[in-house]
Amino acid sequence: MTKRTRWLMTLACCTVAAMATPAFAQGDTEKQLEKYRQMMKDDPWSNPALLDADRGEELWKKPRGPKNVSLESCDLGKGPGKVDGAFAELPRYFADADKVMDVEARILWCMEKLQGFERAKLVERPHPGGGAPVKELGAIATYVASRSNGLKFAAKFDHPKEKEVLALGENLFFRRMGPMDFACSTCHADTGKRIRLQPLPYLSKPEEARKVVGEWPAYRVSTTHVMTMQHRVYDCFWQMRLPQVELASDASVALIAYLVNTAKGGNISAPGMKR
Ligand code: HEC
Repeated sequence: MTKRTRWLMTLACCTVAAMATPAFAQGDTEKQLEKYRQMMKDDPWSNPALLDADRGEELWKKPRGPKNVSLESCDLGKGPGKVDGAFAELPRYFADADKVMDVEARILWCMEKLQGFERAKLVERPHPGGGAPVKELGAIATYVASRSNGLKFAAKFDHPKEKEVLALGENLFFRRMGPMDFACSTCHADTGKRIRLQPLPYLSKPEEARKVVGEWPAYRVSTTHVMTMQHRVYDCFWQMRLPQVELASDASVALIAYLVNTAKGGNISAPGMKR
């Protein structure tokens, strides 16, 4: 790099930094953002994620996969085919898989075991890119979550394996890792923090976790698609410059279990809408 380009880059950086200086006080910015979010939520029927929930319902009911069966024999914890209220009690331990699973891990398991889909293919690129619709598994998860809308998170976490997963999730949340030495708690264990215009909810504090965890899966206005909780965690792993976290892996399920347990008693309003 020549001296001149270096100088130009410094100038550019300073200019950007100066532009980033808020034109009004932080309190005003928060108020304006809150107004924007409220406007998005004011008419719940305008949420495009409802279309994905409908698509998910069709996918749930349609015979598919190499075995050509529907997911109506999939047990989400309340008995085969019972969707209503199932999401509110997840993650939970499933004896048939001998694993604790969140909604996406369970749907993945059913798609593999009942319908005969290849697991490796489903987890290879499980999340949509910007502008692309949520993948089938995500649409089904949106449908299942929407059928617990209005209920409260009530996963019990009393089975020894559930307790184990919860402890792992808590540990991972506070553990500093990776090249940046970040933990989830670096960004999510304080009130009023934000990066650029995105607020960073205090996810280890029940009062704050209850406000946001129940909104996932959510339609993300900025990327124009539904983002599921597994995708959200995947993205934060990426922000921490950690290796990709696999959908339904022990680590992702444990973190989601921790978030859901912290939000226990909080309302489910899925699918939600995010910036
Ligand atoms: C470098 C900072 C950073 C770290 C570390 C981080 N996140 Fe995030 N997280 C963000 C940002 C930024 C957003 C908001 C993104 C947006 O609005 O699009 C976010 C959003 C979230 C949300 C959604 C919150 C809401 O408003 O509904 C969850 C859940 C979450 N993160 C979980 C985690 C977990 C679990 C970890 C650890 C694996 C983690 N995050 C680590 C920056 C971080």
